[in-house]
Amino acid sequence: MAHEHEHDARERRFREGDREAWEREVDPRELFEPAKRDIYNFIDETKVRYLRPMLPAAGSAVEIGAGSGRLLVRLGLERPYRLVALDYAVYAMRAVRENARRAGRDVRLALGDARALPFADASFDVVLSGGLLEHFRDVGPVVAEMARVLRPKGLFYADIVPRKVSLYRWAERERMQRTEHLYEGVYESDLSKGAWSGALRRAGLRDVRVISAGVYPPYTLPRYERLTWRYGSFLRSLDGTAVADVLGFFYMATARKP
Ligand SMILES: C[S@@+](CC[C@H](N)C(=O)[O-])C[C@H]1O[C@@H](n2cnc3c(N)ncnc32)[C@H](O)[C@@H]1O
Repeated sequence: MAHEHEHDARERRFREGDREAWEREVDPRELFEPAKRDIYNFIDETKVRYLRPMLPAAGSAVEIGAGSGRLLVRLGLERPYRLVALDYAVYAMRAVRENARRAGRDVRLALGDARALPFADASFDVVLSGGLLEHFRDVGPVVAEMARVLRPKGLFYADIVPRKVSLYRWAERERMQRTEHLYEGVYESDLSKGAWSGALRRAGLRDVRVISAGVYPPYTLPRYERLTWRYGSFLRSLDGTAVADVLGFFYMATARKP
């Protein structure tokens, strides 16, 4: 019980939605440098390949909790979208501005909260987030907001890193097994794929599909990035399979607004 008390006190201090917990310097590794064969580019390319056949031909795209905005600028290189990046942390504004410059695309910056988006209903053809949704204890309000600002027939995309054991994060398996749901002061959700699908449907989204992906060598292995690129097509072929359900480290969720 004493342990639970301590845990509760920490959770109160570092609630999800605590902007201060996210504020930091821009990490040079999150800057857009597409020729680099690092894990970030491998993952970003994986997501773009997955989304390519579903992307609307034109219109506007917004990334919620954009962080570096790397996926957003990649989508902007795929299609002539008007791009908007929203985050509530100032570091993200700096990172997105730099990545937009590097990609040669204009991105409108919006400082705001994912739980109360400063956009009109039905204003975007693509609404996406990466590594955002797992940080809310109650994901309903955020998904509802994302669905609200999506145009009918628009594409919803979110990738989610669930708090579960994966090959890539093998070194963290003990931490994952403990009751501790906090990592660097940020809540982590352990919702299943099915629970995520349910949350998207409850927000009125349809054609919901959630797949497991990211069976990569443990990041503690000295040459893990080289290995990932070298065996990339095999590793990507595991996305969406039962192997990825067990060993993959992220989910990719897509849906349409009716
Ligand atoms: C793990 S990072 C996203 C990483 C991003 N996809 C990238 O590639 O850099 C999560 C981001 O969500 C932002 N965030 C968390 N909660 C938020 C909220 N309630 N409103 C807006 N942004 C939020 C954080 O500031 C952080 O930049």
